[in-house]
Amino acid sequence: MKITRLAAPKDKKAAAALMAASDPWLKLGLRERHCLKTFSAPFRETYAARTGGELSGFVVITMCGTFRGYIQVLFVSPGYRGRGLGEELMAFAEKKIFGRAPNVFLCVSSFNKGAQRFYRRLGYQKAGLLKDFLVKGSDELLLRKTLGPLRDYSPKKRKYVKN
Ligand SMILES: CC(C)(COP(=O)(O)OP(=O)(O)OC[C@H]1O[C@@H](n2cnc3c(N)ncnc32)[C@H](O)[C@@H]1OP(=O)(O)O)[C@@H](O)C(=O)NCCC(=O)NCCS
Repeated sequence: MKITRLAAPKDKKAAAALMAASDPWLKLGLRERHCLKTFSAPFRETYAARTGGELSGFVVITMCGTFRGYIQVLFVSPGYRGRGLGEELMAFAEKKIFGRAPNVFLCVSSFNKGAQRFYRRLGYQKAGLLKDFLVKGSDELLLRKTLGPLRDYSPKKRKYVKN
């Protein structure tokens, strides 16, 4: 398995089609055209995992603003789930983010219990609840994994320095 940039428009389209055909996006009524925006919005970094040349998963991160270090999307293709690939993609994203900021944020739908268990296992904690955020009747849990406060974080050293 290799993780590289997901940049080609045809790869972004293929990734959006995979998302739109899978929960939680299916349940949320987000179609391919909505999912495609995830890959083209500004300040997004998109990375794909390929297994034997096939797109087996992807992760999209945003590195700007107060909530820099936000994981916009984590997806493992159905045939590859439950084999540790999600964890590998998270480790990859966390390495990228902690090299620049002390927090990783993400949202998970209230009905997506499997993913909630998955993130809890990786050390994520609930930081907030966004009621009816994407659609009415479904909330988004804001999760956070942190190394510490923003001030004094030295990304290069991944540690705190006294000012
Ligand atoms: C959640 C997800 C990224 C986990 O990736 P993965 O490669 O299956 O994860 P791992 O093999 O590293 O870990 C498996 C864990 O994921 C969780 N999981 C969630 N949905 C799952 C699914 N459809 N199939 C298998 N495991 C799933 C399980 O809790 C499992 O933990 P367990 O073995 O303790 O039950 C992946 O299942 C996925 O892409 N699901 C659909 C999209 C999604 O929900 N993304 C997260 C949006 S916030």
